[in-house]
Amino acid sequence: MPFPHPTPHHCITHLTKRERFPTKPNSSSSSELDSESESGGSVRRRRWPEPFLGFFLRLSPAKPINALSSLRFFIFLCGVSGAPTPELPDPKAADVYDFFLQWIGKGLLVLHGPKWYEHRKLLTPGFHYDVLKPYVAVFNNSTHAMLDKWEEKAREDKSFDIFCDVGHMALDSLMKCTFGKGNSGLSHRDNSYYLAVSDLTLLMQQRIESFQYHNDFIYWLTPHSRRFLRACQAAHDHTDQVIRERKAALQDEKEQEKIQNRRHLDFLDILLGARDESGIKLSDAELRAEVDTFMFEGHDTTTSGISWFLYCMALYPEHQSRCREEVCEILGDRDSFQWDDLGKMTYLTMCIKESLRLYPPVPQVYRQLSKPVNFVDGRSLPAGSLISLHIYALHRNSSVWPDSEVFDPLRFTPENVATRHPFAFMPFSAGPRNCIGQQFAMNEMKVVTALCLLRFEFALDPLQPPIKMPQLILRSKNGIHLRLKPLHLGSGK
Ligand code: HEM
Repeated sequence: MPFPHPTPHHCITHLTKRERFPTKPNSSSSSELDSESESGGSVRRRRWPEPFLGFFLRLSPAKPINALSSLRFFIFLCGVSGAPTPELPDPKAADVYDFFLQWIGKGLLVLHGPKWYEHRKLLTPGFHYDVLKPYVAVFNNSTHAMLDKWEEKAREDKSFDIFCDVGHMALDSLMKCTFGKGNSGLSHRDNSYYLAVSDLTLLMQQRIESFQYHNDFIYWLTPHSRRFLRACQAAHDHTDQVIRERKAALQDEKEQEKIQNRRHLDFLDILLGARDESGIKLSDAELRAEVDTFMFEGHDTTTSGISWFLYCMALYPEHQSRCREEVCEILGDRDSFQWDDLGKMTYLTMCIKESLRLYPPVPQVYRQLSKPVNFVDGRSLPAGSLISLHIYALHRNSSVWPDSEVFDPLRFTPENVATRHPFAFMPFSAGPRNCIGQQFAMNEMKVVTALCLLRFEFALDPLQPPIKMPQLILRSKNGIHLRLKPLHLGSGK
């Protein structure tokens, strides 16, 4: 299925020549997933070498339509600056991100300008590593519950679609970690939310891809828009309930005391306690927008990442065995992973990164240029241009990644990373508008995938290969069908 053509204010010039990808500048010391330093505000100005990037507008790298852009251009979009208050990055392209408004409102993903900066600063402490530490236990528990379910399914000795179960598990973990949900599993309402998100992402993708649907007047007359509004309502019912429950809990003195005693507040505590300089709280609309944004971004992306990783493991059994050996040794005779274990999962982490390269959960992002960009060869893009940054295509560009279709985790050894530009790999985007939840996501992916590998051997179903499909996140049109063989390794259960 083709990726959408953006509807540019100024059409991006189609270039045929791919330019050589530069090596990493000497001044850079950040590792490929350590881009958080760039998000906090103290960002250094760097001078970047010549253009690179291949931008394709289709999932198949064999069919490049539109090859364009430069690294300098990407830095420009990220608004990297040496000034004490960072220059604000280019805004998200309203033509695309405005479609989100009805659903997730003006939360962190869609906001721009000083309001975005304010909210980003406010919410960043919610992802401090002291906050993230106790989440490891939550990931363990939610994963065990999913694996118990898989144990039963595996008995039938046929392949099954893992995507939906991974999605429920990821939503359960997110709600427990960031929204203070108790120990129970997913309720009927949570399940309706999960289904609503699946509908919303499908309808949003369809709207992005259908030129006539970009017109509000036309769109709101269609049956698709009515389905969209119904799904929005279902999603909002769920998030409203989450906010109501937490507000009610805060009336309880004991609960208040517990929060005051915590060294670090969780995401929802931060939102509910936030005040601006004049002491004004977030409005109900602002609060709901952030909850809707994080509820969606925090589970659908990791679901995609974990599911495609397990698919890669089934596709490459030799890497699957090596990861299993590593995590088996780390776990020993315990049944759950702890925070300190995460740093020891070297091979597994490289495999996760390699699967994020080939199957980036967010395949494409969009920006609108606030200033013109002039390329070294004299070509330029005018201010106002709508730009699509095709992460999927960048990750499979053979001038950036030799033998780009080959699954090779060793691309992510420290030595190999050092020879590449830090922005060659950007599943979490880059610069100040990078993913605020990337550390949360990496931790979750490590715990979940390690436990999965300990309980089962994963194999392909040759009759049902996945068909990649962008649906805001990278999904498979026909699900991800795998065969699971229980391992009874004695640990991990
Ligand atoms: C494997 C998992 C994940 C991937 C690949 C991913 C990827 C991304 C990407 C590419 C962006 C930039 C989007 C854009 O510019 O349109 C982004 C932004 C964002 N992500 Fe993630 N994400 C993941 C997990 C998470 C999690 C777990 C959370 C929250 C708990 C989260 C919250 C956000 C938010 C709020 C933004 C907007 C940040 C801003 O603009 O300041 N993400 N993510």
